[in-house]
Amino acid sequence: MTISVFEDYHALSAHAASFIAGQLRIKPSLTLCMASGHTPALTVEMLVNTILSEKIDYSGFRFIGLDEWLGLPPENSGSCHYFFKTKLIDPLQLSPSQYFLFDAMSPDPAAECKKMDAVIAERGIDIMLVGIGMNGHIGFNEPGTSFLSLCHVAALDDTTKSVGQKYFNEQMELSKGITTGLGQLLTASTVLLMANGSKKAPVIQKAVEGPVKESFPASIIQRHPNAVILTDKEAAALLNTSR
Ligand code: F6R
Repeated sequence: MTISVFEDYHALSAHAASFIAGQLRIKPSLTLCMASGHTPALTVEMLVNTILSEKIDYSGFRFIGLDEWLGLPPENSGSCHYFFKTKLIDPLQLSPSQYFLFDAMSPDPAAECKKMDAVIAERGIDIMLVGIGMNGHIGFNEPGTSFLSLCHVAALDDTTKSVGQKYFNEQMELSKGITTGLGQLLTASTVLLMANGSKKAPVIQKAVEGPVKESFPASIIQRHPNAVILTDKEAAALLNTSR
């Protein structure tokens, strides 16, 4: 596990975008699995700009959405689908064969999970870019999720239900998510865990320096052989300074 601390959110995002763009140059068939949410928003914007301005070949690029709010239509501006469509899929004009998103409206979410498990098993994940929730979740792997989990439907815990309101214009009834699993995070070649802002300092500290346990899902990062923690100074404020 390596930890890189950046001056601010802009520098952090620029680094993550440039890392992914660099890997895409090396491996044009790169598969990126990525979270939505506030943390990676600038990274994805910078990544798209770099790919287009530097004319990086992305014809072989594949994208997997990390998770989704179950039952939320894709046109809802708070959905992960909307985030990926407006920030990545449309700007890069990705063809449907280049991206894989959970269908949160499917009448058979278990089948959606199996489909995504098959995609991940077949392609593998080169880079998984994740954020961290205020309860230590990664994706919608809520506290108590097995470190061996594959794609699954998750009952959202109270923290996720209340913090998740920030993505929506009106009060939402959030109860379940559909998500890739922690077992799949362990199979990714590289995991980038990003966090910014002082409110993330306690959870970053627990993820990086606390005990590895399923009751705090992000602590799994300590088990990954090639995990990179990227934070701004504020999110790193509680980390052991000798690092
Ligand atoms: C979203 C996701 C979540 C977020 C986490 C942090 O697709 O997977 O686990 O990464 O809740 O959210 P932000 O970045 O909005 O603080």
